[in-house]
Amino acid sequence: MKAVILAGGTGNRLHPIDSDVPKAMLPVFDRPLIEHTIIQLSRHGIREVVVALSYRARDIVGYFGDGARWGVKIRYSVESRPMGTAGALGLLRDIIDETFVVVNGDVVQDIDITRMITEHKAAQARITFAIARSETPEQYGVVKLDDSGAIAGFVEKPRSSDGAVESVSAGVYIMEPDVLASVSYGVAANLETDLLPRMAANGGELAGSVQEFYWRDIADLVSYRAAHKDILAGKAIIEIPATHIGEGIWLGDNVTVHPSAELIPPVFLGKNVTVRPGAVVRGGSIIGENTLIDDSATVANSIIGQGTWVGAGSEIDNCVIAGGSSVSSESVVRDYACLAAAQSPGAAAREIASEVRV
Ligand code: GDD
Ligand code: MG
Repeated sequence: MKAVILAGGTGNRLHPIDSDVPKAMLPVFDRPLIEHTIIQLSRHGIREVVVALSYRARDIVGYFGDGARWGVKIRYSVESRPMGTAGALGLLRDIIDETFVVVNGDVVQDIDITRMITEHKAAQARITFAIARSETPEQYGVVKLDDSGAIAGFVEKPRSSDGAVESVSAGVYIMEPDVLASVSYGVAANLETDLLPRMAANGGELAGSVQEFYWRDIADLVSYRAAHKDILAGKAIIEIPATHIGEGIWLGDNVTVHPSAELIPPVFLGKNVTVRPGAVVRGGSIIGENTLIDDSATVANSIIGQGTWVGAGSEIDNCVIAGGSSVSSESVVRDYACLAAAQSPGAAAREIASEVRV
């Protein structure tokens, strides 16, 4: 079976961490976001993946190549301008001729895809989608279920919601290939605003898979941090690429922690991280690979991007620091998303203060 990962959108609410990488490549525990999806698909026996791209396609193709490393064959469909979620699928109609899986590339989830496929076949639906429950349904595609549990309507981002928890699409679908014939080839269109409402109105074409699963759309820095915390807390079946040495401490290969430094769980230190004498890492912190936490620095409740230097004596609390940053020695940085690249000493606080609060 084939799967399509939709990864052609732009992540414009993730500044500053997405200024250098497309959203699909945002590191989640030192793995690009869609690498977790590719691992999941492979685990469910999917052997062919098409990544539908447009923005910064080269970064993604360069990293995943032919997919051999993940045991899948990866192909790419590159849109010269974003074709919308349905338009992107429409371009694939010559290579898809059997039931297939579609996954939004910006979602961290552990949905049981094998079970969805079984349910899809049993329901004889044209599209089955994973249904989650949400307290903020206005941010998602809302699924209206009738009394028998059948799908009676689909409304993408309804303007008003009265605060009630509603059923929403988690952005993972099983589809029949004839769905692609319902999309005009080469014309930009969206699944959520064009195709799904129409099919819901026809009746009998859509089915929902309701199961317990972890799901989070990485739309902004708040959800980016929440996903990390949830995975550290074991709420999702998502592999952390490091050794769990016990008691909530994950260490990548070649990590060096000085005996006088302190790790207070839960924490993740990616490969080649160095924690120098007297430094402290604590409170759900995620330290990206190749990062140096210098003498007596403290990092708490923060995500530090790959290849960052955290200067001696600095204190970072409740922050997201973009990869490749330098945090000057003795800086105190709290409650911010920071792009602190190559700062001169003393400039840290001013530059950081102009960044986004998370
Ligand atoms: N190839 C391609 N081309 N991919 C696209 C395009 C495009 O033109 N536009 C968006 N995508 C990809 C994005 O990269 C993302 O991975 C996915 O499609 C969904 O787009 P978002 O822009 O993130 O949509 P959303 O989060 O507001 O809403 C969608 O996801 C929700 C679940 O997380 C919808 O599918 C909702 O119905 C759903 O509830
Ligand atoms: Mg999204």
